[in-house]
Amino acid sequence: EAAEKGGYDTYMLKEIYEQPQALTNTLLGRLRDEKGEVDLDIDLDPRSFKRISIVACGTAYYAGLVGEYLIEQLARIPVEVDVASEYRYRNPLVGENTLAIAVSQSGETIDTLEAMREAKKGGAQTLGVINAKGSSMTRELDSTLYIHAGPEIGVASTKAYTSMVSAFLMLALWLGRTRGTLSDKEGAELLHAARELPRLVEEALKPERVARIKEVAEKYAHASDYLFLGRGVNSPTAFEGALKLKEISYIHAEAYAAGEMKHGPIALIDEKLPVAVIATESRLLEKTISNVQEVRARAGKVILFLSDGDEENAQHGDDVVYLPRAHEMVSPVVNAVAMQLLAYFTASALGKDVDKPRNLAKSVTVE
Ligand code: G6P
Repeated sequence: EAAEKGGYDTYMLKEIYEQPQALTNTLLGRLRDEKGEVDLDIDLDPRSFKRISIVACGTAYYAGLVGEYLIEQLARIPVEVDVASEYRYRNPLVGENTLAIAVSQSGETIDTLEAMREAKKGGAQTLGVINAKGSSMTRELDSTLYIHAGPEIGVASTKAYTSMVSAFLMLALWLGRTRGTLSDKEGAELLHAARELPRLVEEALKPERVARIKEVAEKYAHASDYLFLGRGVNSPTAFEGALKLKEISYIHAEAYAAGEMKHGPIALIDEKLPVAVIATESRLLEKTISNVQEVRARAGKVILFLSDGDEENAQHGDDVVYLPRAHEMVSPVVNAVAMQLLAYFTASALGKDVDKPRNLAKSVTVE
């Protein structure tokens, strides 16, 4: 087993470090010319969709939320995202102009599989964003976009998540370019940003950056609750950060879209509550910072994740973690790595078995 972990203490850490390679494999050979053209080998007509339904469970659901944002922004098609256990029982509205997308690492999660059967029954076209080759979903769905993250053993998903998000970026490019909603210039910009991803994640995993996150994680490892905030395309990053922390450290964590904080969670803030805020470069950064000020005014402890070079906003954090600067649309991939490391080092500091967290299964194949 030690050999399989490739010198790392755990599968989870190994898989975190495998991300630059996993992302290379997800993106490699699919990014075409400089105008944002991608080659996904999807056997469906992108002009035939009027709406898209994304269904998934757990971490894959959060990848779907990033997908919603990317597809709506770049391809201007209405997208809804559902947890599969809800979708399958709510008599969903689908028709032949609906594209139903299943997101799944294993391709075997029963709720997701049944949700897709439901969508098919209603006449939807179906597509899987899937890791496991030859899995049940890949056999039943009309088409599959493999994420090529490689085998994931750690129960808490890491590299599959960032590869799923990258796959959605390519899907959004494909839809945007073929449907004419994405200009040559924007296409070129995003293609460049996508190409940069493996390198940016490698940068995020440099020893001094990892050591900084470890230091912060250890400082707050004895907190009984945690709050995660993010906005826009990074609000799912906050959700994923909270999920990761719950799964492996058993610390109660909640996540909110930062602007929603004043409608409830603000009541929880006191000097004992660490609040992890994703505040990397974005259109809405100023608004996020004003949410941070609200937290601090109530004595909450702010762990601020900023883009490299943002010295101006450092004053707003009790602890600051700098992350490689990325195009906003691809930043969820880079930022997710920081969330994984925060959860990982918190759980390790508490002596938890990160590869086999209690009560969780890698793949849930019974209802
Ligand atoms: C389980 C795992 C999660 C995973 C979810 C969906 O709950 O513990 O890590 O996100 O299933 O799995 P899937 O294989 O469909 O992505």
